[in-house]
Amino acid sequence: MTSPLVQLVPIPQRGDARGQLSVAELGGALPFPVRRIYWIYGTQLGVSRGFHAHKQLRQLCVCVAGSVRIVLFDGRREESVALDSSAKGLLIGPGLWREMHDFSPDCVLMVFADAEYAEADYIRNRGEFIQTKRE
Ligand code: TYD
Repeated sequence: MTSPLVQLVPIPQRGDARGQLSVAELGGALPFPVRRIYWIYGTQLGVSRGFHAHKQLRQLCVCVAGSVRIVLFDGRREESVALDSSAKGLLIGPGLWREMHDFSPDCVLMVFADAEYAEADYIRNRGEFIQTKRE
């Protein structure tokens, strides 16, 4: 059995009559302590991003507004998932090539990461990534 590349985690919703509130906390939706948060927004029409893998980094992606499609590739299989709700997060572990496509103009993609930014942790060349998966 091959495990799915797309790992979605439910994010508890605590909204009420006043409006919405979503919670990601350690031991709940967050499987790791967060050391960095960044968010991608204002993405221009037709722009795709990502096109890299990480050697160690773990991330939880939550689309808190709008929608985006994320493609994951492990060197053999490719899976795609639409993120369009702050009630679910996409876990992306190390060793997965990721691409982000079809951003809606209002998309805000929050990313929680378990380490600080380190360019040395990136593999930005798809051919090199495929090669590392064969080794
Ligand atoms: P990059 O990771 O290449 O964006 P994406 O893969 O989403 O298309 O990041 C774009 C730029 O921002 C690049 O110069 C690195 C910088 N950056 C940081 O300085 N810190 C960060 O936490 C991130 C994610 C990027």
